[in-house]
Amino acid sequence: MKQVRKAVFPVAGLGTRFLPATKAMPKEMLPIVDKPLIQYAVEEAAAAGITDMIFVTGRHKRAIEDHFDSAPELKRDLTSKGKDTLLRILNEVVPPGINFIFVRQPEPLGLGHAVLCAQPVVGDEPFAVLLADDLIDADRPVIGQLINARSTKNGGNVLAVQTVPREKTNQYGIVQIAENGTNVPVIKSIVEKPEPDKAPSTLAVIGRYVLEPSIFESLRNIERGAGGEIQLTDAIARELIKDQTYGCRYEGTRFDCGSKQGFLNATVHFARKSGYEIL
Ligand code: UTP
Repeated sequence: MKQVRKAVFPVAGLGTRFLPATKAMPKEMLPIVDKPLIQYAVEEAAAAGITDMIFVTGRHKRAIEDHFDSAPELKRDLTSKGKDTLLRILNEVVPPGINFIFVRQPEPLGLGHAVLCAQPVVGDEPFAVLLADDLIDADRPVIGQLINARSTKNGGNVLAVQTVPREKTNQYGIVQIAENGTNVPVIKSIVEKPEPDKAPSTLAVIGRYVLEPSIFESLRNIERGAGGEIQLTDAIARELIKDQTYGCRYEGTRFDCGSKQGFLNATVHFARKSGYEIL
């Protein structure tokens, strides 16, 4: 069984829910306390043993490339002033042995299309996908929990799943599972953003995936789906008949930082964790 060494971070979306903040700045660079969302995601992947971080970027996303670039003038300045703590924080942004690779999505045609843009770099290997706006506070990196689940099953696709309130099913990919009572159930069906009265369950896919490379063929062959976008969910639906696909009920607390409410909740949570007093 091939190991998961590569992670794809789709960051080419327009982030319209955060306008005007995201007019010129990527949503993924919004900070929770003092760290951009995308850095939390990269740290999660690195902690799970992933070495190749592949970003699918678009226009106005240069800030992400700059963030993961070296910053010699900043290093020189902090060194000469003896600001060791800040220097350590700066050095941690780009851990040794990690490769940062950037590919472009020419147009934001949807999450599925963004993942397809990474194919030339991913090649014929299983790979992780992390959506930085799903921020998860967990003792064990959630993408690592998915990778472990995949190992116990000897391969296949693994999607992080979580129960959501029925009135919110139209915001998620929703799965139907074959058996209850296991943390890694087989997925029988998946549908993107079903209305609450049509949803097959309330088990939602959130922004962590481990996928087999055969997903690329499905991604190339699907039509535009919900919202007129090329949906990753629709390609996964095709995979269900080819590769075994599992849900993973992960351990951790998730914040939907693509929404203002979730972003604020995450800010309060991580601020308290860092010892700040919330008035
Ligand atoms: P979202 O739909 O949550 O992000 O996509 P968005 O479109 O940027 O945000 P809103 O809805 O307008 O506020 C989930 C993830 O997929 C990426 C986004 O960057 C985000 O990380 N994405 C989405 C792409 O990379 N390309 C796309 O075409 C669409």
